Amino acid sequence: MLIRRETRSDIDATRAVTSAAFAKSDTTSDTLSSSSPPPPIEATLLDELRTSDGWLPALSFVATGDRGEVIGHVVCTRGHVGSDLALGLGLGPLSVHPAHQGRGVGLALVHAVLGAADAFGESLVALLGSPAYYGRFGFRPAVDYGITPPDPAWGEYFQVRTLTAYQPTIKGLFRYAEPFDRV
Ligand SMILES: CC(C)(COP(=O)(O)OP(=O)(O)OC[C@H]1O[C@@H](n2cnc3c(N)ncnc32)[C@H](O)[C@@H]1OP(=O)(O)O)[C@@H](O)C(=O)NCCC(=O)NCCS
Repeated sequence: MLIRRETRSDIDATRAVTSAAFAKSDTTSDTLSSSSPPPPIEATLLDELRTSDGWLPALSFVATGDRGEVIGHVVCTRGHVGSDLALGLGLGPLSVHPAHQGRGVGLALVHAVLGAADAFGESLVALLGSPAYYGRFGFRPAVDYGITPPDPAWGEYFQVRTLTAYQPTIKGLFRYAEPFDRV
């Protein structure tokens, strides 16, 4: 497996990996209808992020397999914190193709994007996800930093990983790139 920045020719493959990773395991609806199921919202979100102001091409990474095929993808997009709109990053979607899950691809992608974000001087990365998975990367409940989620119901699932440039004065409501508001 290799991790590298996404290029233009990876766009379709990242959409396919995201669709496969987030496809519903329950196929009941497929058996009742001959039409294709709609793409997962995460695939639509990825498409919309690409054309939004929040897209940061240097923070979109793919994992590739033995034949150079895309087997995983992660992206961070521009977010803001608090009333003074301090800069932050929102992580996601993170996707590993089901055929390649559980072999450290997600681990490598998250470490790569966190390292790049730190090197670019970013202050923090926020995400909505499982504390059991993301705790290993140093994510903690955002509320511990005085950073509140866009939806209060997210609770401890809304997490923040601080980076070297983080200052404790960065507090308040986290706002993702605009396409997140529609999912
Ligand atoms: C979550 C995901 C990105 C992890 O990638 P991966 O390559 O399978 O993960 P890794 O091999 O690096 O790590 C595997 C570990 O993650 C754990 N893990 C995977 N998904 C998890 C989840 N949703 N919650 C908690 N732990 C999870 C596994 O139990 C395993 O734990 P272990 O190391 O203690 O045995 C991948 O499973 C995936 O694409 N899932 C579907 C999409 C998704 O849920 N994306 C994340 C949304 S926040």
